[in-house]
Amino acid sequence: MKRIAIFASGTGSNAKKILAHFQSSNKVQVVLIVSNKPTAGVLNFANEYSVPTLLLERERFVNGDGYVSALQSAGIDWIILAGFLWKIPPILVKHWEKRIINIHPALLPNYGGKGMYGEAVHQAVITANEKESGITIHYVDEQYDHGTTIFQATCPVLPADTPASLANRIHTLEHLHYPVVIEKEILSQVD
Ligand code: GAR
Repeated sequence: MKRIAIFASGTGSNAKKILAHFQSSNKVQVVLIVSNKPTAGVLNFANEYSVPTLLLERERFVNGDGYVSALQSAGIDWIILAGFLWKIPPILVKHWEKRIINIHPALLPNYGGKGMYGEAVHQAVITANEKESGITIHYVDEQYDHGTTIFQATCPVLPADTPASLANRIHTLEHLHYPVVIEKEILSQVD
């Protein structure tokens, strides 16, 4: 059984889809929900699925041990980011190299980087008059939105789109693909 921790800062709609997807799996199990925000909606889903939670304290995460010991004690094999706002510190990248996956709501390498989160991404895409946007699922390295791409899917940007309407279309794509891509990636690396 591969044990995953989901890191999320917000509503957690992707986290919920991942929890539901692996609920009856005998190969992959979500064993921990990690957040930096005590009021994050994702914590309600953790409760709903009876998964333990870990609330991060910024100083320890950024300048301390990066919670490596806590994650090791929980037996975490994979870290899945689902709308997680903080940059992953080098110590975590080092311990879970090629074992941390992120989803970004645009077609990287465009519209990524610091501050490119949620609706700010969609606003930038609309302002640039793009006709197409999409999702990127990628490995995490020490730079924001930068590691090797695993999967991309596209959707149109419509003339009447607002950041909220584009976000809805992107969320649909994310929910459809993210759990399946995670599963495929984890199972392809089972030794
Ligand atoms: C998702 O759209 C995800 O791609 C995005 O945050 C949203 C979280 O939604 N992540 C980023 O922008 C990372 N740079 P959710 O809380 O409903 O899953």
